[in-house]
Amino acid sequence: MKIGTLDLGEKPILLAPMEDVTDAGFRLLCRKMGAAMVYSEFVASDALVRAVPSTLRKLQVSADERPVAIQIYGRYADAMEEAARIVESIAQPDILDLNFGCPVKRVAGKGAGAGLLQNLPLMYDIAQRVVKAVRIPVTVKTRLGWDEHSKNIVEIAERLQDCGISALTIHGRTRAQMYKGEADWSLIREVKQNPRMRIPIIGNGDICTGPDARNAFENFGVDAVMVGRATFGQPWIFREMAESVGRTDAFEPQFIQSQYEPFSSDWKLDVLKEQVRQSVERIDEYRGILHVRRHLAASPIMKGIPNFRDMRIAILRATTTAELFRLLEEVRPLIREYAN
Ligand SMILES: Cc1cc2nc3c(=O)[nH]c(=O)nc-3n(C[C@H](O)[C@H](O)[C@H](O)COP(=O)(O)O)c2cc1C
Repeated sequence: MKIGTLDLGEKPILLAPMEDVTDAGFRLLCRKMGAAMVYSEFVASDALVRAVPSTLRKLQVSADERPVAIQIYGRYADAMEEAARIVESIAQPDILDLNFGCPVKRVAGKGAGAGLLQNLPLMYDIAQRVVKAVRIPVTVKTRLGWDEHSKNIVEIAERLQDCGISALTIHGRTRAQMYKGEADWSLIREVKQNPRMRIPIIGNGDICTGPDARNAFENFGVDAVMVGRATFGQPWIFREMAESVGRTDAFEPQFIQSQYEPFSSDWKLDVLKEQVRQSVERIDEYRGILHVRRHLAASPIMKGIPNFRDMRIAILRATTTAELFRLLEEVRPLIREYAN
């Protein structure tokens, strides 16, 4: 699959943009685990224009994580255009992605993100102006439509293509669904099968396993698959998915300091420890640990261990790396025995 001149190979698996999750550290880890491209969390266009320091920090990318996409959001075409130029000049990402899909009230309720599904002329105006403002390929991520009664993604896709975007990611839910129910991939297939569509279509929503990824390519015909929540606590899922779809991505297990066989439960524990280490190094000890806690809580290697409740709570309450690592080493033999 090619986005502009960027060649991601056949059946690429991409890391979805996720607020507070897909920072530079996690993105790099996912690339080393086999993600073909990674996305930043969404970045507020108006804050970029105002040069808010904490927002500008979100534009930091490392050479090792490329190809990388930076995603921006907003409801003002002027600010989106200006923000796009700022992103291009500071971060020089491989792709600039526009968020037309965020459902949360503080964003969509104000007319940004999925809110633009209720103001299509403005959505197209933003897309067109941003495409003209930068040289890098501009892509869009959106949903099926606003609600059950307006699943108009087939038409929206055509119009966005006419605006000059280079690829479209579709999350198979409406705004009204938020994250509830199951993602509906049938409309994603319809967009892909529309003979007028030429740009790559990236499918997103509820891809959790290797077979899910294979099914998305085989039965829904998408050009790429994007994975979000299934990466929590198991960034190695990219390797499993890539293998399932027959990709031979450069997987770099040596990125992880571990004496164990890649994919063994011991190695997986070392991946999570590395994640903690890098987060602490990048932020600070207290907030760095807080930042990766959701990964520890969600990791399948922490599941299925009998009478684990108290230990689990202790792990999630640890505030220093030394304490956290001591606890993780204490559970290592249990993980070895019970992890799936
Ligand atoms: C914690 C969290 C943060 C998210 N932040 C963003 C975001 O910044 N931009 C975006 O386009 N989507 C965001 N999403 C949506 C995901 O990119 C993805 O579309 C959604 O989770 C469905 O994919 P999944 O079933 O693979 O998780 C977020 C999702 C989660 C769970």
